[in-house]
Amino acid sequence: MDVDSSVEEISEPPPSKPVKCTDAKIFVIVGASGYLAKKTVYPALWDLFQQHRLPDHVLMIGYARSKLSVRDIKNRCRDFCTGIGTERGRNRYENFWRLHKYVAGGYNSDRDNGTALARAFEDFEANYKKCDRIFYLAVPSLTYGSLAEMISRHWKAPKGCTKVALEKPFGMNKQSMKDLEELLDRYFQEPEICRIDHNLTLDLVDSIMSLRFANRFYKAVWNKENIAAVLITFKEDLGTKGRGNIFDKTGIIRDIMHNHMLQILSFVGMIFGTLN
Ligand SMILES: NC(=O)c1ccc[n+]([C@@H]2O[C@H](COP(=O)([O-])OP(=O)(O)OC[C@H]3O[C@@H](n4cnc5c(N)ncnc54)[C@H](OP(=O)(O)O)[C@@H]3O)[C@@H](O)[C@H]2O)c1
Repeated sequence: MDVDSSVEEISEPPPSKPVKCTDAKIFVIVGASGYLAKKTVYPALWDLFQQHRLPDHVLMIGYARSKLSVRDIKNRCRDFCTGIGTERGRNRYENFWRLHKYVAGGYNSDRDNGTALARAFEDFEANYKKCDRIFYLAVPSLTYGSLAEMISRHWKAPKGCTKVALEKPFGMNKQSMKDLEELLDRYFQEPEICRIDHNLTLDLVDSIMSLRFANRFYKAVWNKENIAAVLITFKEDLGTKGRGNIFDKTGIIRDIMHNHMLQILSFVGMIFGTLN
């Protein structure tokens, strides 16, 4: 699908002073119209903003084919962002969205020359001597190839580093995983690629390690003499909730088994490491 490229913004994200010497960052959420963006990526940026952990000079750009505005994205993300129940929270939420733009455009350089996004980059970067660009691909993996080409041809950072973040699953089988790796190799250096499984950071999963290894009682009895069986259950009470597209193409087994479930199994079953 082709669309006319357009740039929509609530207001220009202002650097506090006009600076030529400061480093800046641009974070592009590719697939900003989708489920992962509203459920995970934007709320994570919002959390960083609340904790004052975003860079001082940052622009966040939502990019997708749908003709949307920052206001649309803001409204879609509202249910997934915490801490906006009070007036202070709501004011902060408004301030957060002042750091955003939305650009509509395609994922394929045969049909879109990427100028709308390139223009948004140039407008912001004119204020800075150095600026990194980070692309978070919150889109189905079938678009990774054409997007990698787009980024490499039109959007690499001229005065900073370029990073591309991809979500699992990385391919549908061994061959398509190899094809994806070859494709990424063609356009990027390894340090430019971040492969992400955002569920690996779940607090509940992480806490299994401290439960086992930092607890004298459990550490002593967590072994085959005392445990007859381990049952790992995956429970969600949300239904598919906007993820039908992903589940239809990827499948629930590929989505969770070899990453989330096996990670839990490894945490439950691993032997405490010893040197030598
Ligand atoms: N959803 C999850 O919980 C989850 C969990 C882990 C990993 N992931 C991974 O994260 C990525 C994004 O997931 P998602 O749930 O956000 O996907 P999604 O909502 O189905 O798609 C995101 C956006 O991509 C564009 N898109 C959808 N289908 C397309 C197609 N066939 N061709 C080109 N563009 C298409 C659409 O934007 P426009 O039409 O506006 O361009 C859509 O809004 C996927 O690679 C998925 O495997 C998702």
